[in-house]
Amino acid sequence: MIRIGLIGCGKIGQVRHLPEYADNENSEICALYDINMERAQELAKKYGAKAYDSVEALLASDIDAVSICSANTSHADIALKALEAGKHVLCEKPMATTLEDCEAMVAAAKKAGRVLMIGQNQRLAGAHQKAKELIDAGAIGRVLTFRTAFCHGGPETWSVDPGLNTWFFDKARAAMGAMADLGVHKTDLLQFLIGQTITEVSAQLTVLDKKFADGTPITVDDNAFCVYKMDGGAMGTMTVSWTNYGAEDNSTVLFGTEGVLRIYDDPEHTLVLVKKSGEIEYYDVDQIQTNDNQTKSGVIDMFIDHLLDSSRPCITGESVLPAMRAVFGAIESDRTGRVVKVNI
Ligand SMILES: NC(=O)c1ccc[n+]([C@@H]2O[C@H](COP(=O)([O-])OP(=O)(O)OC[C@H]3O[C@@H](n4cnc5c(N)ncnc54)[C@H](O)[C@@H]3O)[C@@H](O)[C@H]2O)c1
Repeated sequence: MIRIGLIGCGKIGQVRHLPEYADNENSEICALYDINMERAQELAKKYGAKAYDSVEALLASDIDAVSICSANTSHADIALKALEAGKHVLCEKPMATTLEDCEAMVAAAKKAGRVLMIGQNQRLAGAHQKAKELIDAGAIGRVLTFRTAFCHGGPETWSVDPGLNTWFFDKARAAMGAMADLGVHKTDLLQFLIGQTITEVSAQLTVLDKKFADGTPITVDDNAFCVYKMDGGAMGTMTVSWTNYGAEDNSTVLFGTEGVLRIYDDPEHTLVLVKKSGEIEYYDVDQIQTNDNQTKSGVIDMFIDHLLDSSRPCITGESVLPAMRAVFGAIESDRTGRVVKVNI
């Protein structure tokens, strides 16, 4: 039985981590911590766990692993403390808010001989798993170009502390906006699907619409537009947005030498393979998870399975580093107005 501590008892903890641990027969929710003590206590009662009043006290308890589900800028500090205390770590995305912190987390996991997994759950979505299988089998040949999007109306209604003064809009607690919330997912996904690494990025990050309650613009990006070039020659775009009001876009379309793969792009079918010959194959794998339609992410089962048997797959911190290098490259490109080379 893997004994679990959870840090950050907000929305993602409540809708995914806690229910999925409770559902897994090999894990037991033992310890909870949140800067909002009442929230941790309420959930402790619900799950038969104990609430602690600090990260240190939680880490000193008899747990094997922690889930980190707190605000972005706290991830690295908590992960480093947990690894040093000998705990395995499942950290929500974004892994951390500087490249140095991401690299320090990977190094600390290695040094401690503990698992560091990142919650890049897009890799596990049904249509993405099927798409990977088709691409690896050569269904669209060599990927030449792509476009991916992750766009919705913003996190201010999603957070457990909703409203225009959400931490998601605050640079001090979020570091990045739509880029951290959504761009990190699709950057990682592109490399996972195509099997190539991003080596060049040009990007613009901007605030088009979101405002704090007092009417001043938020201090992180609400839209980001990136052009990515990969080491195998593939090139394409990523658009992420918090200002797609009324409709979500979670689509990825890959154009290869032998055909086109449309993922979560067709209203009827989750996956559409259009072959060079014009022949079309439809795969109805699942529906993409949206803010209003939460389904099991599979992240927790993967973490527990991997802790029990290290030969089973895991989304390791090390495997997410190339995506984080591209994301920080995008931010540098926006700042300097130049094309930035990464991962080389
Ligand atoms: N994998 C995904 O698809 C996905 C989806 C949503 C959120 N997330 C990530 O999960 C994290 C939490 O997001 P959320 O949606 O649950 O936000 P939320 O606002 O609903 O909850 C955040 C919680 O963390 C607590 N908190 C903040 N700083 C803390 C700290 N230093 N120590 C302990 N508790 C702290 C807050 O009190 C709150 O209860 C973020 O990093 C976010 O990017 C990932």
